[in-house]
Amino acid sequence: MSKSRAKLSKCCSGSIFQSKRSRRTEKSVGRTFSDSPHGICNMPCSRHTRPAAGGAILWGRLVIAVRAPTYCPRIPATVYDRPVWLTWINSAIEVPHSMDILTTREGGIFTIELNRPQKKNAITADMYGALTAALIEAGEAPAVRAVMIVGKRDVFTAGNDLQDFMDHPPSSDDSPVFRFLREISRAPKPLVAAVCGPAVGVGTTMLLHCDLVYAGDNARFSLPFAQLGLVPEAASSLLLPELFGYQRAAERLLLGEPFGADEALQMGLVSAVLPADAVVGHARLQADKLVALPAAAVRATKRLMKQSRIEAIGSRMLLEGEEFRERLKSPEAREAFAAFFERRRPDFSRFD
Ligand code: COA
Repeated sequence: MSKSRAKLSKCCSGSIFQSKRSRRTEKSVGRTFSDSPHGICNMPCSRHTRPAAGGAILWGRLVIAVRAPTYCPRIPATVYDRPVWLTWINSAIEVPHSMDILTTREGGIFTIELNRPQKKNAITADMYGALTAALIEAGEAPAVRAVMIVGKRDVFTAGNDLQDFMDHPPSSDDSPVFRFLREISRAPKPLVAAVCGPAVGVGTTMLLHCDLVYAGDNARFSLPFAQLGLVPEAASSLLLPELFGYQRAAERLLLGEPFGADEALQMGLVSAVLPADAVVGHARLQADKLVALPAAAVRATKRLMKQSRIEAIGSRMLLEGEEFRERLKSPEAREAFAAFFERRRPDFSRFD
């Protein structure tokens, strides 16, 4: 590592400007999903061309996942899931498509998995579309009684994909990112999140809309919106001060300093902290408990708990979205994004 890189890593460790390690060599090319920390997928993984189908062992069960070339929020997630025989037929055809979001249904639990480890599960517009479709599908399917949201053992998500944001900035409230935030904020069924590793930006703010949140002892939360020249989203400018207290929220939202699982527990962002290897299993046990309960009573209880904030959350999201879109075009944001990709410290001194 060069001297300047080493210096940068020292003064910015844990933040978005954290120095990159030598993993570059182990990434992408020839990588398979069996490299995934949960061992969930065993498919060859290159970002743009992947086999049309694949088998995956998930929590001891055989799960088949097939995805169309791109996700469309209007298509229910189950449309992407196919019976085994069709999977075999499809597997003969190589088509460009995305498996960055995986969904599975099992015993009343609908699981949504962020599956883009080579980019630290950074979320693109397509992925937001897939997440929205999955939430809608889970909300509407009568047999689904709980929804799990999981990442990988070493990363939940690096938040918004900054390259995708530069290439396709959200232009309205109907953009995929904002649709996803609206959908998750009013999901009718209980959402159970399992979080390990970094949960950056939306990786942290989406948790404010989940009902049970289990964090691995390696979880690291951060809200670097101001650092990126942006503003908070997901109504976090409203919900975080309410949850943490104003000053503690200001420290997180203004300075963007990361915080660990114990602090997140103490501040009420997560329900419990567990060893990283036990998080998904524990979340699943809790989801199983929800499945066994009277579903209508569970939904009504959630609705009642959320009722008083629904309108405030909706209007705060609109305000934040408007500001967010403006900020995204700002020279500060451009500088911050460029600095991230050029692996250097941003210089905001020339902006007022
Ligand atoms: N958008 C786009 N690409 C991202 C990304 C993001 N938010 N986060 C990571 N990546 C990419 C990196 O550019 C890198 O790609 P490359 O291998 O082609 O160079 C790859 O994912 C691995 O990331 P890297 O930074 O090398 O991993 P790390 O383990 O050193 O650090 C993080 C992990 C999550 C701490 C760090 O990537 C990070 O801070 N990301 C940015 C988070 C952010 O600002 N999100 C926006 C919130 S609104």
